[in-house]
Amino acid sequence: MCRVCGGPVRQFFDFGRQPLSDAFVDPARVDEEYFYRLAVGICESCGMTQLLDEVDRDRMFHEAYPYHSSGSVHMRRHFEQTAGRLSREHLRGPDPFVVEIGCNDGVMLRALAKEGIRHLGVEPSGGVAELARQQGVRVRTEFFEEATAAEIVAADGPADLVYSANTICHIPYLDSVFRGLDTLLAPDGAFVFEDPYLGDILERTSFDQIYDEHFYFFTVGSVRAAAARFGFEVVDVERLPVHGGELRYTLKRAGRGTPGPAVAALLAEEDRRGIGTRGVFDSFAAGVERIRTDLTGLLRELRADGKRIVGYGATAKSATVTNFCGIGPELIDWVCDVTPAKHGKLMPGSHIPVRPTEALTDPYPDYALLFAWNHAEEIMAKERLFRESGGRWIVYVPEVRVL
Ligand code: SAM
Ligand code: TMP
Ligand code: ZN
Repeated sequence: MCRVCGGPVRQFFDFGRQPLSDAFVDPARVDEEYFYRLAVGICESCGMTQLLDEVDRDRMFHEAYPYHSSGSVHMRRHFEQTAGRLSREHLRGPDPFVVEIGCNDGVMLRALAKEGIRHLGVEPSGGVAELARQQGVRVRTEFFEEATAAEIVAADGPADLVYSANTICHIPYLDSVFRGLDTLLAPDGAFVFEDPYLGDILERTSFDQIYDEHFYFFTVGSVRAAAARFGFEVVDVERLPVHGGELRYTLKRAGRGTPGPAVAALLAEEDRRGIGTRGVFDSFAAGVERIRTDLTGLLRELRADGKRIVGYGATAKSATVTNFCGIGPELIDWVCDVTPAKHGKLMPGSHIPVRPTEALTDPYPDYALLFAWNHAEEIMAKERLFRESGGRWIVYVPEVRVL
C-alpha cells in the first residue's frame, strides 16, 4: 500500500534479501547482521515510486551512522554555493530563521552559521550531529516530524525557510513531515529540498541508488501530487549535477507562489518519457540484469587471469551492487574509503574488508571498481597516478566499462 496515498503499489524490481547499506560489520560480530527485503514499485494512484518494505528508522540513523557529508570536496563546494543561494533568495528579511532537516555534519549550515544567520539543524544521528556542533551549528538530535516542528516553532518562532538535502527521500512518514512543515513555516515560507531524481536513475540504470535509506524516488509529478495532499505546491524545480542527477524542489503553501516555467517543462518531459509506465520500468529491469551479468562476467574473467581488483568508495549504494550481484572477497580484495569509521570493518552482507584510501598505492592494483561513481571526477583527479601507472577503472553506470 502506498505510503503517501494508500493506493496500490505495483512492484517493478525485487533485489531480494539485503543488509542495511550503512551497517558496516565488525569482523568479530558477523553473525549479528540484519537483513530485509529490498523491492521497489510505483503507486498506481499517485505515481510515487517507493520501497515495498520499510526498515525501522532507529536501525539506520543512530549514534554511529557512518556517512559524513563533508567527505567530498566537490559536495562541500556544492553546499557552500547552496548556502549562498538560499541566503540571497529566501533569507533576506530582518532576522531570518532557517531549519535544515538532516544537516549531518553541518556541511551546509556552517556557512550560514558563520554569517550569523539564525538557524537550526535537525539531525537524529548523534555522531554527525556532534560534528556539526563543533562547526558552530545549532542542532537538535532528533528525527524531524510533526511533534519536532511544534517544539521548534514554540522555542524559535516560525521558519522563513526549511531546507533538506538527501534526506526527505529517506523519510517514509511524509504525512508527518508535511504537517510539521505547515506548523513550522511562516505563511510565505519556503520548503526547498533536493534528492536523487527518478528520471536520472531510469536513464542511467543507476539501480544502486535503491537501498534501505532511499525510501522514495521522486519525480516532479509525484512530488506535486504528494504536496497537494497537504496544501503545498511545487513552485520551482532545478536539475542538479550531483550524486548522479538530482532535482531541487521549491514548495510553498498553495496559492502563495506562482509556479515557474521549469515546473511545467519538466512535467511535460516526464510525460513524454513515459516515466511511470510499464515499458520504462521493464527496460530499467532489463538494464539492471544486463549490468549484473556484464559486471560479474568481467570480474570473474579478470580474476581468472590473475588480476588484482579492489573497490573504491564503500558507499551505501555498493551494498545493493555487491549483494544483488553476488560480489564478495573472492572477486574484490578490499574496498578503500576516506571515512575513518568504516576502516577495519567489513562491507555489509558481502564482507569485503574496508581500508583507508592510502592502501590503494601499496602497491597499485590492476583494477579498481568505482563504487563512488557519482564522485568520479574528484576521485579520478585525486588518484591520477593509479591510471598513469597502468591501473584501470571499472564503472558500471550506465553500463559496464573499463576506463
Ligand atoms: N544533508 C546531508 C547531505 O546531503 O549530504 C546528509 C544526507 S544523509 C544521506 C541523510 C541524513 O538524514 C542522515 O544524516 C540522517 O541521520 C538524517 N535523517 C534521517 N531521517 C531523518 C529525519 N526524520 N529528520 C531529520 N534527519 C533525518
Ligand atoms: P556517497 O556516494 O553516498 O556520497 O558516498 C561516497 C563514499 O565514498 C563515502 O564513503 C566517502 C567515499 N569517498 C572516498 O573514499 N574518496 C573520495 O574522494 C570521495 C569523494 C568519497
Ligand atoms: Zn500513492
